Order: sequence, then C-alpha cells, then structure tokens
Amino acid sequence: EPEGTEEPRSAVVTIMGHVDHGKTTLLDYIRRAKVASGEAGGITQHIGAYRVHSERGDLTFLDTPGHEAFTAMRARGAQVTDVVILVVAADDGVMPQTEEAVKHARAAGVPLVVAVNKIDREEADPDRVKNELVAREVVPEEWGGDTQFIPCSAINGQGVEELLEAVALQAELLELKAVRDCPASGVVVESSLDRGRGPVATILVQNGILEQGDTIISGTEFGRVRAMLDERGERVKSAGPSTPVVILGLSGLPEAGDEVLAVEDERKARELVDRRREKSRDKRLQAQKA
Ligand code: GTP
Ligand code: NA
Ligand code: MG
Repeated sequence: EPEGTEEPRSAVVTIMGHVDHGKTTLLDYIRRAKVASGEAGGITQHIGAYRVHSERGDLTFLDTPGHEAFTAMRARGAQVTDVVILVVAADDGVMPQTEEAVKHARAAGVPLVVAVNKIDREEADPDRVKNELVAREVVPEEWGGDTQFIPCSAINGQGVEELLEAVALQAELLELKAVRDCPASGVVVESSLDRGRGPVATILVQNGILEQGDTIISGTEFGRVRAMLDERGERVKSAGPSTPVVILGLSGLPEAGDEVLAVEDERKARELVDRRREKSRDKRLQAQKA
C-alpha cells in the first residue's frame, strides 16, 4: 500500500461471460454511445481500455481481461477489476464460462452485476437465467439477494443505461480510493511489439501520477516513458489513478499483470531490474533441476 493521502477514484470494470453471449457487442455499444461521441472521426483506436462517463461518475472499462488474462493477472497478485459485468445471453442461459466467471469474481472478491443480454430475441427467457444463477448462489435483489440483474440488448441498447447505473452504484458502495501524492504505480493490461514504435504496453495507473519522461520498471523491463496515449490515441502528458494509458519507451515486453513502478532514475531502475532478472534466472535453474 502506497503512503499518502487517499482520494476517491473511479471504478475499473471488466466484462466477462460465455462465448458469444455478447461481451464485445455490449462493449462496442457502450463505446459508441459513451466514448466515440466526442470524437471527430468517430472511430476509437483500440487500446484495450477506455473510460466512460456516467451520471454517477466515470468508469474505466478493461477490454482485454477475458478469463485467461484475468487468471494470469491474479496469479501475479494483480487486482485490476473493481466490478465484473457478467453477460448472460437470455436465449442461452448459464454456460460453463458463465460459471467460471462467477468463480473468478468470487475468488477476487469482486461484486458482480448481471447483464441479462439479448432480451430482444424471441427465445429470451430472463427468468431461466435468474434461476440458473440462483443455483450458483448469485441471487437477484428482487428475490432477496444482493445482485442486480439488468435485462438488456447490446444490439438495440435497451437497458444499457440502467446497466451502467447499476455498475456505478456498485462502485459507489465500494468507496474506492487511491493515493495521488506518491510515486506512480500500476499494472500492465497488455503489451505488444509495434514495428515502428517498439514495445508498447497498455497499463492501468493505480496510484500516483504517471508523467511523460518518468523512469519506470515493469517485470524485468525498464525504460523512460517516451510517450503516453489515451484511449483515443491522443498524446497525454500525465495519467492519474484508474486511468488506462498506452506507453512507449520500455526496453522490452512486460507481461499482463506485471506491476509498473516509477523510480527515481535510470540507475535505480537498472539496479532493481538486474536483481529481478537474476531472481528469475535462479528460478528457472531451480525449475530445471526439479
Ligand atoms: P466471444 O468474444 O467470442 O466470447 O463472444 P462475445 O461474448 O463477445 O459475443 P459477441 O459480442 O461477439 O456476440 C455474439 C453474437 O451475438 C453476435 O452475432 C452479436 O451480434 C450477437 N448479439 C450480441 N448481443 C446481442 C443482443 O443483445 N441481441 C441479439 N439479438 N444479438 C446479440
Ligand atoms: Na463472439
Ligand atoms: Mg468478444
């Protein structure tokens, strides 16, 4: 836990659910309605994370952490999500990956909001979804439980506003806080090698203010933040808690779930990274022996 003054921060939201239940379509709808509207070209550059404005406050959506990334991040001890939206298609009901998502959220201690999706379809049966989730101990508020079930359609947008409201309400109850007056820290959401720009990482800043020019370490990599881009692909000079940014300037590719930490200078960065590289070498050698 970083030392400093705690201040409110916005929530980080992940969408999970079974294959083809409508996660991407829902994200696209939200993005079009809430993010892209202010843009000149109307097309949002995909960086795997973006911020949405709701009446109750901003929400940060992480596009990437599907189940695999979620598991990988948790294995590294990284907690990036505050609220999970569980998408269940009302014409299909609870499926294996729905159950898995419930387990993930539970294991992480993260509250769920259920999006009962595809209610525009004739075969939609929202009560079936409720019954099947009750059997997994996810009980709707109207049945005496503590989980909001929001019927919606990612195609025509019905219920999406209510869904965002429900998520924002959950977030409010969590009273999320972050420290701003401390060295910047965060977590890697995804990384890739760009032919022109070198290693590119999408990170979520969790504490402090990350600034262009900062020296950072992440996993066994380090570097100076040469440039930062927001979800619109526009250059930004700084990014505070709960803000996703793309950063350029790392020496190599950190992995999803790796911590990002601003350090005093490059000497310190090299020192820390050398130690980490040594450690991971030792681990590999030990693993080979065993
Ligand atoms: P994966 O990423 O493959 O796990 O799937 P997904 O959960 O992202 O589902 P996706 O958004 O790709 O949607 C799957 C199909 O369902 C697409 O053909 C969508 O157009 C359709 N679909 C999604 N939401 C709705 C909805 O609310 N109503 C209807 N009628 N179709 C929907
Ligand atoms: Na799909
Ligand atoms: Mg998808």
